[in-house]
Amino acid sequence: MWKRLRLQQVFTNLRLEGIYIPFFQRVTFTPAGGYSVKIKLRTGMTHTRIMKKAEAIAIGMKAAEITLDRIKGDKFLLSVRTENEKVLPTHPSMGRKLGRPEAEPLVRVPEVLSSVPFGVNADGYQVLLPLFTKSGGSTTLIGGNPGQGKSSAVKVILAGCIQSNSCVIWFDPKSGADANPFKSRVEVVSNPRNPDEFLEYLTRIQEVIYRRNHLISLGYSIDLLPKIVLFIDEWALLTALGTKQQQQFIQTEIRHLAATGRSANVSLVLATQRPTSVNIDVATRELSNNRVAFLVGDTHASEAILGQTGAESKTNPLSPGQALVWLDGQLQRTSLYSVPEDLSRQCETAAGYKITLDRVEELEEVFRRENGIVEF
Ligand SMILES: Nc1ncnc2c1ncn2[C@@H]1O[C@H](COP(=O)(O)OP(=O)(O)OP(=O)(O)O)[C@@H](O)[C@H]1O
Ligand SMILES: [Mg+2]
Repeated sequence: MWKRLRLQQVFTNLRLEGIYIPFFQRVTFTPAGGYSVKIKLRTGMTHTRIMKKAEAIAIGMKAAEITLDRIKGDKFLLSVRTENEKVLPTHPSMGRKLGRPEAEPLVRVPEVLSSVPFGVNADGYQVLLPLFTKSGGSTTLIGGNPGQGKSSAVKVILAGCIQSNSCVIWFDPKSGADANPFKSRVEVVSNPRNPDEFLEYLTRIQEVIYRRNHLISLGYSIDLLPKIVLFIDEWALLTALGTKQQQQFIQTEIRHLAATGRSANVSLVLATQRPTSVNIDVATRELSNNRVAFLVGDTHASEAILGQTGAESKTNPLSPGQALVWLDGQLQRTSLYSVPEDLSRQCETAAGYKITLDRVEELEEVFRRENGIVEF
């Protein structure tokens, strides 16, 4: 009740008189300690006029931010959010019982990969990152200043992939510093002195995509073939390796993957330290269903990742591990799960689920033979 009165008082102090909070209006609290309330706008009051004073309202309410969403006509939902916890939430896989093989059932069936646990939003609800949906794979774009949590974000996504029937490939041009501990479950490509190796993988994945799309055009379902997740950490660094020609080629291949991978059940996760409109071209961003922006230096970098400003904000700055996450056109301030401490052990336990690109190609051969499909 007093929240309602306090709000009314803040509105009056800020000369926002055209806002009406119906008397018996319930204040709904969120798990994160924030709350929301329905308000009505009288003639002359607009969404824009209120949001111009958003910061002042937030300060008046001793909150971190407020948002205003239209429900219908003159009715709006005003949400007041508290400061996100600086301590990152624990990943759901932490503490999952590992090892003790005698306690394991004889045959464990791997999960089918769809959305993976990613973090908790400002209202305290879980945020899931859709890697695969009914319409196939996705592209996830991750950007932000050094040390803000891009590689950690990749590891959090990995944690959601381990127990599934999927081929996970990680390009880590920083000599595998981030990816190597997970080698038992993940295929790591990491030699910065050998740009051709990255190129070879990109070309082979592209071939898999072509052949899968061909199978689909013949009327086959590719659901039985393993899903593929490709992590590319340090995208900008990768496209700066080797000769001009190799660089051009790598850039083009990645763009191509983003454009053609979806239907072939290939998902791409791209992380970059230097988000600019030069290295994130608009086409690739528009193809990215999932966009994750950690703290960045300026509005241009935020726009390069999200297509909108916000991640550069100085008034309520993102701390390491926090990001603005854009999913389905909705932006959510999210505290990512902290990387499970036992992630490499989880990978060892799931080593039996590892599927290499070689194996993906073999399985496709088998699929063709069994269905009597002649060479493509
Ligand atoms: N989700 C997270 N879980 C655990 N620690 C995190 C997380 N996000 C950020 N951190 C902390 O921030 C530090 C930097 O994170 P990370 O290496 O992921 O950043 P980065 O953006 O990849 O940096 P760089 O651009 O230098 O590669 C980590 O060492 C860790 O202490
Ligand atoms: Mg990194």
